Amino acid sequence: MSEEIRLLEAEQTAAFDEEYISKEMFVQITDTLDRHLNNPDEGRYLDVGGGNGLYADKLLSRYPNSSVTIVEPEPTLLEKNRPHDNKELREGIFQDVEDLSDLDLIQFNWVLHHFISSDYASTCNLQLNSLKQAYEMLAPGGLIIIFENFYEGLECSDKPGERIYHLTASKLLKPFTSKLGANTAGVGVAFHSELYWREQLMKAGFDQMFSTHCYDFGNLSPLKRKLLRIKEQRVGMLVGIKS
Ligand SMILES: C[S@@+](CC[C@H](N)C(=O)[O-])C[C@H]1O[C@@H](n2cnc3c(N)ncnc32)[C@H](O)[C@@H]1O
Repeated sequence: MSEEIRLLEAEQTAAFDEEYISKEMFVQITDTLDRHLNNPDEGRYLDVGGGNGLYADKLLSRYPNSSVTIVEPEPTLLEKNRPHDNKELREGIFQDVEDLSDLDLIQFNWVLHHFISSDYASTCNLQLNSLKQAYEMLAPGGLIIIFENFYEGLECSDKPGERIYHLTASKLLKPFTSKLGANTAGVGVAFHSELYWREQLMKAGFDQMFSTHCYDFGNLSPLKRKLLRIKEQRVGMLVGIKS
């Protein structure tokens, strides 16, 4: 992988020792796997940025004969994993995984917005190339499942995420953005609208896709929302199917 990839420090990822998939969201996932995979109980699954492994554990208890690989660059999160015979832990970044193919599911739970490179254009490229890589790694009929925070701009634009990227990626602004509460300050974070992600999935080769709305959120003050020109922030599940 030739692109520069910026990672957060261990202190910045400490807040990710959580599990964000609720019972309802897990039902949406298992309904999707049961409907679209021939044999989900024997599936080969990859959880990108799977951290502490709590999500992988859920998959393994629902599908006891499946196998789950977690690829995660932060060792302090990986070491929180409960061992399981069918769980493989890999310390590293997704972009360096070269030996996995014919997977039934690749899951990106709140991780794509952490694929950050040296500038905004390279960051968007890195995100797209990672989706293309996922497409290549899937078996025919395999699924990509993405959970993301969608940032919808006024006039349907994708601009709020770009503004947030420039503020958080700047090393000069780090003292200021850290004080404002951005735990990605000095590295960057790159959110997008749902439409943007759908377009990237299409460019990556996925010609069938669907999404489900999970919930709306609002972690920013009205002033920040106005300055960033945000219409709404919501969490959704986006699914792509490899034909
Ligand atoms: C917001 S956390 C989400 C953790 C977990 N997926 C969840 O939903 O609870 C993002 C995770 O992605 C990991 N990450 C960041 N860049 C990555 C990369 N290039 N490849 C794989 N994982 C990455 C981070 O270390 C972090 O654990």
